[in-house]
Amino acid sequence: MKFKVWRQANAQSDGHFETYELHVDPEASLLESLDAINESLVHQGKSPIAFDSDCREGICGCCGLVIDGVPHGPVPKTTTCQLHMHHFAKQDEIVIEPFRAKTMPVIQDCMVDKSALERVAKAGGFVSVRTGQQPDANTILIPRKKAEEAFNFAACIGCGACVAACSNGSAHLFTGAKIAQLLALPQGHPERASRARGMVKQIQNEHFGGCSNEGECTAVCPKEISTGAIAAMTREYIRSLVTN
Ligand code: FES
Repeated sequence: MKFKVWRQANAQSDGHFETYELHVDPEASLLESLDAINESLVHQGKSPIAFDSDCREGICGCCGLVIDGVPHGPVPKTTTCQLHMHHFAKQDEIVIEPFRAKTMPVIQDCMVDKSALERVAKAGGFVSVRTGQQPDANTILIPRKKAEEAFNFAACIGCGACVAACSNGSAHLFTGAKIAQLLALPQGHPERASRARGMVKQIQNEHFGGCSNEGECTAVCPKEISTGAIAAMTREYIRSLVTN
C-alpha cells in the first residue's frame, strides 16, 4: 500500500506530501504501519514521520490524523489509534495529514499543538474542592439519569477532531462538553456562571471560530458528543451574563 504522508520540518517551513510503500499487515493498526515506515526511514538515515500518540486505546485524546480527508479517518466513532489496516483493504493508497486549524498549528509533520484546547479547559473546566477529609460517596445523591448525562459529556477526550472538522475551526463542541458535564452534577453548580464566562472568553481569546450548526464536529467525534453540548454552553453563557 502507498502512504501519502504530510511532511513539514517545523512550524515555519512549507509542507509537502511524500509517498512511502509498505507491505501492510491487515491486522496491524494504522499507527503501527506508520511505526514500520519510520523504522525503515531510520534505517535509511532519514527523519521519521512525527505524529502524536500515547495510550493507543482510544482514551487519551493524544492521537489525531486527517486520513483521506477526514479527521480520525473513515470509521465512525473511532480514534486514529483504533484504526486497523483491514479498514483500508479496498484501497491501494492512503492520504495522511495533520489536523488543519489555525488554532492547532503544525509542530512537525503530522504533529500539531493542541495547547489552546488545554487553556480553554483551564479557564473553567473544573470544580474547586476544599482539601480535607474525603466526603462519603453517598452524601451527594445524583439521579442515575443525571449521572449518565454527565458521563456521556465527560467522554470527550479533547482530541481536537471537532475543531479540525469545522469549517470555522470552532471549539464549541469541546467547550460545551466540559460545561454540560459539570452542569449535570451538583458539584458543578456553584461555579457555573464563572465557568461559562471564563471558557467562552478563552475560546474568543484563542481565536477559535463560531458555530454555524453544520454538525461536522459531532460527525467526526470518536466519543459521539452530541450538539446538545453546544446548546448547553450557549444557554449557560447567556445565563451567566444575566446573573452577572
Ligand atoms: S493515542 Fe490515546 S486516544 Fe489515540
